Amino acid sequence: MYRTHTCDELRMDHVGQTVSLCGWLQASRDFGGMTFIDLRDRYGITQLVFDVEQDRELCERARRLGREFVLRATGLVRERSNKNPNRNTGDVEIEVQSLDVLNPSKVPHFTIADKTDGGDDLRMKYRYLDLRREPVQQNLIFRSQLALETRKYLSDKHFVEVETPFLIKSTPEGARDFVVPSRMNPGQFYALPQSPQTFKQILMVAGLDRYFQIVKCFRDEDLRADRQPEFTQIDCEMSFVTQEDILQTFEGLTKHLFQSTLGVELPDFPRMSYDEAMQRYGSDKPDLRFGMEFVELNDLAQNKGFSVFDQAELVVGICASGQADQYSNKDIKKLTEWMQRPQIGAKGLVYVKFNADGSVKSSVGKFYGEEDLRAWGERFGAQAGDMLLILSGETEKTRKQLNELRLEMGRRMGLLKAGDFKPLWVVDFPLLEWDEDSGRFHAMHHPFTAPKKADVERMLTGDHDTMKSLRADAYDLVINGSEIGGGSIRIHDRELQSRNFDLLGFSKEEAEAQFGFLLGAFEYGAPPHGGIAFGFDRLCAVLNGQSSIRDFIAFPKNNQGRDVMIDAPAPVASEQLDELRIDLQTEEEVG
Ligand code: AMO
Repeated sequence: MYRTHTCDELRMDHVGQTVSLCGWLQASRDFGGMTFIDLRDRYGITQLVFDVEQDRELCERARRLGREFVLRATGLVRERSNKNPNRNTGDVEIEVQSLDVLNPSKVPHFTIADKTDGGDDLRMKYRYLDLRREPVQQNLIFRSQLALETRKYLSDKHFVEVETPFLIKSTPEGARDFVVPSRMNPGQFYALPQSPQTFKQILMVAGLDRYFQIVKCFRDEDLRADRQPEFTQIDCEMSFVTQEDILQTFEGLTKHLFQSTLGVELPDFPRMSYDEAMQRYGSDKPDLRFGMEFVELNDLAQNKGFSVFDQAELVVGICASGQADQYSNKDIKKLTEWMQRPQIGAKGLVYVKFNADGSVKSSVGKFYGEEDLRAWGERFGAQAGDMLLILSGETEKTRKQLNELRLEMGRRMGLLKAGDFKPLWVVDFPLLEWDEDSGRFHAMHHPFTAPKKADVERMLTGDHDTMKSLRADAYDLVINGSEIGGGSIRIHDRELQSRNFDLLGFSKEEAEAQFGFLLGAFEYGAPPHGGIAFGFDRLCAVLNGQSSIRDFIAFPKNNQGRDVMIDAPAPVASEQLDELRIDLQTEEEVG
């Protein structure tokens, strides 16, 4: 037997017992006559002590050991003279009688501690060392617990976990596919699933009734803190349900997960239509931990001689409470420049300060009298000390820009509090989105999403402009400004699905070639069905008050989509390419 206990187990009750522990050398302290070693495993840390008086040779050996050596120590548990109240095992130590070095270690490239000195790149290259750090291990343990609780909740509700294939044909979820060449079918490729969307619908046609899967999905898209090229979904589908049934079931799942992992009881989730979210927050995933709602000023601010506002489709602003004296002219200039960066692209930023002394100051004071400005303030409910920040321009763009400003002000004012959870269902998404560049409609959620019942007739018979106003039974779960999940009621009627493919610009032949199997299945008794998928990595991060999903993934990719530990992607041997009949032409050959 390697060990009798873990490094987090020993207490005063064990004093006098002979025990064996295994673990990594976290730190050692040498005091001449005595050497102390902190031995660490996944569970905790226990202090080992070596006494020159008792065993000189053993003590000398202990002194020569380096950080991260793997050790097995056997000895007597004794009470510590100076106890460490910050450690579970802090009352005791092991007086070591025998020591095995199970494996030595090179000096690690960064310290294995809660706060490490290792930069991102180094931590990713030596991920096995980074994963030894307690906060990262805790994240993985949390993830495992979250998956377990998900399975418990869903299986109690009669969901069946079914695995769907990874080598499939492209499913259009809006990103690019990762493709895999087929050796046995030269010149042909599988695609890795962006989600199991079509398979879960087929499972409903097959009569499974309730399906779920905690499943890897693959999307070749630009990466951000909350996006990885391979990520995990809690993917679900249900038959004979309305949108309401789905929202209830998955609000239940979310509440269960918060309760069972954090002990947090969430109140019922509010709901907001897509249009309302865009109007009040300029985003379909508003962070409701703070207010600062948009207030429109067109009627008050236009036709007063300020041409920028006069020409704008929308004049809209937010009120930053108590910020009037926090922003000097220089600060406002900096904030304006921040808004003018290409990532946001605002033309300018107008401010109105309602100073604590009762005076009013504005960058557009030339065009508006104090009475006008006070009327604006009244609409915002502004108090003395508050500052209005106002943008103008084309409606959609201006709202998006003001959303960025609202979030930035929220951050600066410390309003995005960790531990505060504000879930929200965003509902009534548009079915289709018109894309000027390609001159065609895109599915706002995906091509299998059903229009609202009341809109079916208009979808089948309406003209081009009618299509822009169709609403879908589609919904997103948003928590603290992060899109945690999305889903919809699906089309289960072949004709309607064909019409949707039509509108999305697929020819009959293309639709048949890509989705013939699904259209075919719809001819054999497809039940009404719908579902949702949660981003599992995002859910882990949000529950822990973090915005980056990387630390909740054991082996994540970096921002260039690389795994720097295994150094992938990488070229393959030319024999492998030959076998796959892939001819990599050099640039010169291509000409
Ligand atoms: P959707 O595309 O909205 O829906 O994805 C569902 C959820 O998955 C998460 N997510 C991601 N997480 C990390 N990295 C990514 N690259 C990434 N992309 C998406 C988000 C998102 O809300 N088949 C539909 C679901 C359905 O209709 O049932 C789908 O995949 O949290």
